[in-house]
Amino acid sequence: ANVGKGTYPFFMLKEIDEQPVVMRRLVEKYTDGHGNVVLPEALLAALKQADRLYIVAAGTSYHAGLVGKPLFETLAGVPTEVDLASEFGYHIPLLSKHPFFIFLSQSGETADIRQVLVKIKALGHPTLTITNVGSSTLAREADYCLELHAGPEIAVASTKAYTGQIGLEALVAQGLGIAKGNQKAAEFDAAHQLGLAAAGQQALIDQKDRLHEIATDMFKTTRNAFYIGRGTDYYASLEAALKLKEISYVQAEGFAAGELKHGTISLIEKDTPVVAYISDPVTAAHTRSNADEIAARGGKVLRIASASQATDEDQLVVNDIDPLVSPLLTIIPGQLLGYYTSVDRGYDVDKPRNLAKSVTVE
Ligand code: G6P
Repeated sequence: ANVGKGTYPFFMLKEIDEQPVVMRRLVEKYTDGHGNVVLPEALLAALKQADRLYIVAAGTSYHAGLVGKPLFETLAGVPTEVDLASEFGYHIPLLSKHPFFIFLSQSGETADIRQVLVKIKALGHPTLTITNVGSSTLAREADYCLELHAGPEIAVASTKAYTGQIGLEALVAQGLGIAKGNQKAAEFDAAHQLGLAAAGQQALIDQKDRLHEIATDMFKTTRNAFYIGRGTDYYASLEAALKLKEISYVQAEGFAAGELKHGTISLIEKDTPVVAYISDPVTAAHTRSNADEIAARGGKVLRIASASQATDEDQLVVNDIDPLVSPLLTIIPGQLLGYYTSVDRGYDVDKPRNLAKSVTVE
């Protein structure tokens, strides 16, 4: 497709801005207008048979897959494991009796995933590809395909495909949970949550200039950076760190906040930048005290908290949303901090060195 940047300096910024629309479009495509999830009957029937889900992906899509685990386990009651495609294919774990495979791939062309798909099909197990490209290889070769409908993603660093994948995982998990009569699924309203996500994303996108200032202050000259959180905040940390790495070449790592004291805290020096995600009510207090420990050792801490957990010391507040899908909001500042750091350093944001949009070799 022939898409332009319009008035945007880079595709990445345009694609960040499109995320609220992507959320609303998913609701349009996958619900009946009354909040009920609509999925193809054959897909739902196959999913219902599964005693375990295997989500297989690479890069940013893998990070979206991680968020899928608690969604499918909580809403659909199915044990779910998430694997890197490049590892899975050559070290296939002991599979359950009725495994079901979900391949997450923006492009639908990633060779690491295709090699897994081929092996799994040979074993005769059912497969679903979730992709942004309906005509792609993985879309064609899997038994079932669901499209993100996010529109072409041009920037190498993936943004709207990540949030699109999480949004669609939430819809599928709820749809499956309802089909299985799971109470948790009945209480979770995916369409409503995606509406909250769209509004909350917009509120963050509207604070671009502030995020640019924060990015300049935190990352303009640093050589390394850390992101911490627990649960889905941890998964967002991994993806936020990847965004900074990919396009600004700052060595960045996402950590489970509780692991800090078991090793990583030795890396904290005066002014080491650390972003702390404090959105999940269950773990907010623990992560907040980890952030305090870092600050006490001279680290430069940016606290990103959800409205219900926020205190005066938090520099950035995201709207409240179900913690199962909180990365739909918490990743927005992660994306924008990466973007502005790349801009500040004068890099070609859309075409980072050494990286390709889709990798068709193993
Ligand atoms: C490449 C891209 C990443 C992407 C990964 C997986 O490495 O540079 O941004 O996350 O492939 O791509 P996929 O199209 O399978 O989601």
